[in-house]
Amino acid sequence: MSTAAARPTSPADSDLVRAARGLPVDRTPVWFMRQAGRSLPEYRALRAGTAMLEACQDPDLVTEITLQPVRRHGVDAAILFSDIVLPLVVAGVDIEIKPGVGPVVADPVRTVADVDALPDLEPDRLDFLATAVRRLVAELGPTPLIGFAGAPFTLATYLIEGGPSKEHARTKAFMYAEPEAWTRLLDRLAVSAATFLRAQVDAGASAVQLFDSWAGVLSAADYGTRVLPHSRAVFDGLGDRDVPRIHFGVGTGELLALIGDAGADVVGVDWRVPLDEAARRVGPQRSLQGNLDPAVLLADRATVDREVRRVVEQGRAARGHVFNLGHGVLPDTDPGVLTAVVELVHELTRR
Ligand code: CP3
Repeated sequence: MSTAAARPTSPADSDLVRAARGLPVDRTPVWFMRQAGRSLPEYRALRAGTAMLEACQDPDLVTEITLQPVRRHGVDAAILFSDIVLPLVVAGVDIEIKPGVGPVVADPVRTVADVDALPDLEPDRLDFLATAVRRLVAELGPTPLIGFAGAPFTLATYLIEGGPSKEHARTKAFMYAEPEAWTRLLDRLAVSAATFLRAQVDAGASAVQLFDSWAGVLSAADYGTRVLPHSRAVFDGLGDRDVPRIHFGVGTGELLALIGDAGADVVGVDWRVPLDEAARRVGPQRSLQGNLDPAVLLADRATVDREVRRVVEQGRAARGHVFNLGHGVLPDTDPGVLTAVVELVHELTRR
């Protein structure tokens, strides 16, 4: 007979934080990368007439857009509505987010001098962020808020390519040709990412996710020597702030163990590697997040149901499992399907 009272519900004791630490949970927590965004009609309505990077700096809009998917889907975490290029924009780099394209940099970083001319991110420019996070934490009650930043490598790809890219050839060429300037660039991006994360945690965020979305274009050897130390520097920059650290990239099957070694409590996995195999690669010291293929949500409900069940089953091999997609929600996704996935994961995993 159990006489234990229900667990207190605070963000620090939420299923998300507990799964991230490998502690027992009431139900497997679920959230979706890009849950706040174009799959929601209420998001499109609120965003009408405001540029993306303007919206990201407006505490009222950030608060409301961040809350929308929590209200609608009953997800177990909110993720701050922002963008990975925002720290660069706040520092003064001329970047625009072109709808349907992504971030476009007016003057890409192509020379050693360009690296040294980049402005630093001054923490006192982040008041809007602290305001939004404090409001969100007050509104969210027991639901944790995940803060995030872009990892140095992925931010470097935008700065060097000037925009989205498939091969990231210019980035790699710069990395090989100018190793010292590369190190300085990634060092500086790590400092700015850490500043951005500290501002969110100090205002009350309960976990952080470092997005290294495009790290999967690198070999394990290059990732390990030329990138990982800088991602680790971001996490180290959190000091003794006691929040779980989630680290995610796309196409990182060959890098999963290293992504963990960069300092993650939770390794995010895309849809290419099943979670039981990912657990083997990452080892028993870390939890996993993922990894339903976002395209599955565009299929029929029976397929969605089957694939959710598979991911939940394979996730049982991990120390802890945070259910998510293998990458962001696609804009054409029916929001009703997202709500149904949350309900199904909760039903399948109720302890
Ligand atoms: O997950 C969430 O709901 C939080 C919000 C969030 C956004 N961007 C909002 C956004 C997060 C965590 C990001 C991070 C981000 N931004 C990443 C890392 C995550 C990943 O997807 O790998 C990257 C690579 C970016 C850069 C970026 N910003 C891209 C590629 C795009 C899409 C361009 C397009 O229009 O298709 C953006 C714009 C963006 N960021 C949108 C949203 C909601 C769409 C802009 C709009 O609605 O007008």
